[in-house]
Amino acid sequence: MEFIKTRTYQNLANAFAGECQAGMRYQMIAKLAMKEEMKTLADTVKTIAKNETLHATQFFNAMLKNGGSRENVKLDAGYPFHAGTLVEGLQFAESDETDEATEIYPTFAKIAEEEGFMDIAGLFKLVAEVEKHHKAIFHYLANAVKDGTLYKNESPIIWVCSECGHQHVSTEAWKVCPLCKAKQGYVELHLPFEGVKL
Ligand SMILES: [Fe+2]
Ligand SMILES: [Fe+2]
Repeated sequence: MEFIKTRTYQNLANAFAGECQAGMRYQMIAKLAMKEEMKTLADTVKTIAKNETLHATQFFNAMLKNGGSRENVKLDAGYPFHAGTLVEGLQFAESDETDEATEIYPTFAKIAEEEGFMDIAGLFKLVAEVEKHHKAIFHYLANAVKDGTLYKNESPIIWVCSECGHQHVSTEAWKVCPLCKAKQGYVELHLPFEGVKL
């Protein structure tokens, strides 16, 4: 069968569109975070947005390599469309990442295997692993922002100012950096690493 008529081709096209949109949605969340002067959180979300655009590029390249250029590709899929507060945005992102990591990409990988496209199945699996890690980060951020614990820890840990590098070990980060006067939102985050295969 011609590659462009396979389910895998359509799945790549849907995944490409989905990743482009996720990248855009996360940029909007980062902007919202900056409005609240949460610089390091915004930077973290921007990094994830960049990851998504790189995933989009990989899916695009797989379409191009196997199917060539085309005038038009029809998409037929549902895509998340939601907005809200920063916490809500982070929660929506967690839920979207969960769907990608546990349902969408594993299913796309299985279909690619059934259709005999092992390299594309491998790509979907690798991306799913990253989305699992993204899910863990959004889960942590959503809860920490909601509960006001982003800059607190039960035992003393090191806090580092992303602006001037000032460091201090404590159960809670400073409200204003004693060295450069940057706000708390500029303190480096302590992100979780769940989802990473060791
Ligand atoms: Fe992605
Ligand atoms: Fe992701």
